[in-house]
Amino acid sequence: DAPRLVQTQRVAMAGTAEDVDRIIRLDEAVVNRIAAGEVIQRPANAVKEMIENSLDAGATQVSVTTQKGGLKLLQIQDNGHGIRREDMAIVCERFTTSKLRKVDDLKTIRTFGFRGEALASITHVAHVTITSRRKDSECAYKARYADGVPVPLKPGGTSAPQPCAGNVGTQIQVADLFYNMPTRLRAFGKASDQHNRIVDVITKYAIHYADQGVSFTCKKHGQPSADVHTPRGCTTRQAIRLALGPSVERELLEFRGGNMEPDGTARAGKGAKEADDATSESSIAETDTSLRYSAHGFFTNSNFSSKKSSFILFVNNRLVESAAIKRAFDEVYAEILPKHGHPFVYLALQIPPEHLDVNVHPTKKEVNFLYQDELTTALYRICREHLENANESRTFLMQSLLPVNKATKSSDARKVYPGSAEELRGASATSRGGGDGPAEALTESRSQKSSGRKRSREEGALAPSQGASTSALASASASAKAKAPTKAAFKDPRKMIRTDATLQTLDPYLLSRRDGKARPFDFARVCNHINCDCDENGNPDGASKRAASPAKIAEQLGENATKFAMTKRPSTFRETDCRYDSIRALLADIDVHEDPKLVDTVQKHVFVGVAEERYSFIQFRTKLYLVQHVDLAREMFYQLAIRRFGIMGKLELEPRVNVKEFVKHFLADPSSRLAPSDGTPEELATEIAELLREKSEMLDEYFRIRVNEEYELESIPDLLEGYEPSPDGLPEFLYRLAAEVDWTREQECFESVAKVLSELYATLPAPSEAQELVKGTGVAEDADQTVRNIWFPSFRWALRPSSELRRTSSILEVASLERLYYVFERC
Ligand SMILES: Nc1ncnc2c1ncn2[C@@H]1O[C@H](COP(=O)(O)OP(=O)(O)OP(=O)(O)O)[C@@H](O)[C@H]1O
Ligand SMILES: [Mg+2]
Repeated sequence: DAPRLVQTQRVAMAGTAEDVDRIIRLDEAVVNRIAAGEVIQRPANAVKEMIENSLDAGATQVSVTTQKGGLKLLQIQDNGHGIRREDMAIVCERFTTSKLRKVDDLKTIRTFGFRGEALASITHVAHVTITSRRKDSECAYKARYADGVPVPLKPGGTSAPQPCAGNVGTQIQVADLFYNMPTRLRAFGKASDQHNRIVDVITKYAIHYADQGVSFTCKKHGQPSADVHTPRGCTTRQAIRLALGPSVERELLEFRGGNMEPDGTARAGKGAKEADDATSESSIAETDTSLRYSAHGFFTNSNFSSKKSSFILFVNNRLVESAAIKRAFDEVYAEILPKHGHPFVYLALQIPPEHLDVNVHPTKKEVNFLYQDELTTALYRICREHLENANESRTFLMQSLLPVNKATKSSDARKVYPGSAEELRGASATSRGGGDGPAEALTESRSQKSSGRKRSREEGALAPSQGASTSALASASASAKAKAPTKAAFKDPRKMIRTDATLQTLDPYLLSRRDGKARPFDFARVCNHINCDCDENGNPDGASKRAASPAKIAEQLGENATKFAMTKRPSTFRETDCRYDSIRALLADIDVHEDPKLVDTVQKHVFVGVAEERYSFIQFRTKLYLVQHVDLAREMFYQLAIRRFGIMGKLELEPRVNVKEFVKHFLADPSSRLAPSDGTPEELATEIAELLREKSEMLDEYFRIRVNEEYELESIPDLLEGYEPSPDGLPEFLYRLAAEVDWTREQECFESVAKVLSELYATLPAPSEAQELVKGTGVAEDADQTVRNIWFPSFRWALRPSSELRRTSSILEVASLERLYYVFERC
């Protein structure tokens, strides 16, 4: 029934059945309405047309105000040359223009406008009011327009322009856009979308005209702050920063190229060669038969990647779209950006007007280039070379700083980034070799892609089918994704880090030999783990609950045994429930000083390696920290002494340690700085042994430090399961226990005992002659083992880092992965 319905409709329109097939001339109003609908498709088109008129009028300041996304009101104010009063009558008529005289002028047109159609179109779909004043005029004139002709400003008044106050320049108000096209109006949806499109157009002009001294502002009616504002005299870079933010601006590469100066004269040198290469046999002298262009712009390096594509192209100052040029850039970036990542590109081309056809689209958004293939090839190459140069310098930095592990370099890195640096360089070396273009480059990257697929198939990976435009990088990362068991959200590679502590550390780069042989547990000879007599509940701790003794570990792990500690809080770990005010106060102190920012870093760190005696590297998220591990250990053991006050187990010493002898040994060392007034070492040692013997009961009860009747040290606390402090620290410990503890006040006493204990437990074994020093760090192997296998794993759960560690730079951020992206990407 459909054709019959159409027939009925046509009859109804034509009046009688005989009139149906007759050709009639459409009413001018109908013609204009149809044309207007094509030229002005949405508010942003109207804005673009009016901005271009302002620029054609030589304006240096353009302000746009919108209401309801431009559908209720669009107002453009400029400071251009204005419109003559006598022209006001026909300014909005179709095909009236001041910019074109004869058809030949089209070939060399340099103004945006030439059809005399834009304003006319707007008046057919909106209520337009123009107020304009020329420099030589005493006042401004205002007129209202509808359907291309002036209408009275007020009902019953004259339609002639009315004098009024106003600045030099033109203000055009467009109200109720599409008031007579309800279907289109309904299709627009949210007003904010239309406003965003307007902002987008103005942003592009603001960037392009920044260095030509034109300032742009765009804001919503009634809102104090502007959505776009570029002041006069700012540079293109500054405009990009103002409009799009510093994250884009920071990563910009500026480029220039072409064989023509922007003013149209031939350019000598490198740029000339590029175009020359692109057009192969042709020469610049043959100006009419070869590509001539000048290119300037900014594009982001591979650090920047956005979900939204921003490609701004101006050709002879005209904002246009060119699928071919965009494709050429996309092709280069596909190799270096993550999948679905887009760069920011701003490209301004100057082409001889005779090489450009601007009259191919009703909104002028498309243009035809005479030498399109040559142009895209040249631009492709410029983009590629600039990115390549930017990459090269950073690749060099990586090579000079980090020794690269062979396995990682030759297989893993290439598996993930087959299209990065080297291949990009390799590919461009090929492209320099012969007459090429995006077409060839496309083939080239496809072949890379297929080889990438082959490689991944060889490795047993799934090779998902790729879209035709995806590059080697995209295909590799897709196949990597295919391997993942779950569909992971897209991750910025700059934020992709090692999270498994068992992964590689610095060792392969530093260690001369790591044979994994068990070393003798020196202290094990004199020290056995003895369980605490009772826990907080008064129940004796079962021997089975204890961590394995060093001997047991050695037995279990055989040849490869090393000391180790838990990376998680052991289930047997309990905190004191002592009700002493002094202990409560000390515990509260630990709480108060805990630094929330450091907690995560310490708990979730990944150990990187021991750097030297006092320093290690750890990684947390994307940051690398230099840590003074002794400081952290001291704090941890102090906290453990307080948090396990009265309930910690003990390490029984066998044979026992003669306090007097040990203290004498310490005092004999010049580092003890014993003053003659303190007495002889003998006297002092006796005194200290007496004192410790006297305090032994209390020390034993709370800290498991027991000195017997024979002045022998019998036990010390078992602060951390599986860890025995180095016996090297014992002489000093005994001396300091007597000399530095404040025995008169309870809180100070407990605090100082815990501090002295922490010094002992944070003492690394001194290198013995027989021991191998770790190459690169000069640390004794035992010390190295303690730090990496005991201290750092324990820091994760036993240390509550205080802000003091930050103040003393004990945990110092030294690098951030985002900044070293290039370096890590290729590791
Ligand atoms: N802001 C302005 N300042 C000064 N003159 C203007 C301004 N806007 C429009 N005009 C004048 O009005 C005329 C008509 O403008 P309109 O945009 O309709 O046509 P055009 O710019 O000549 O061609 P096109 O339809 O291709 O844009 C222009 O030729 C120009 O002389
Ligand atoms: Mg115009």
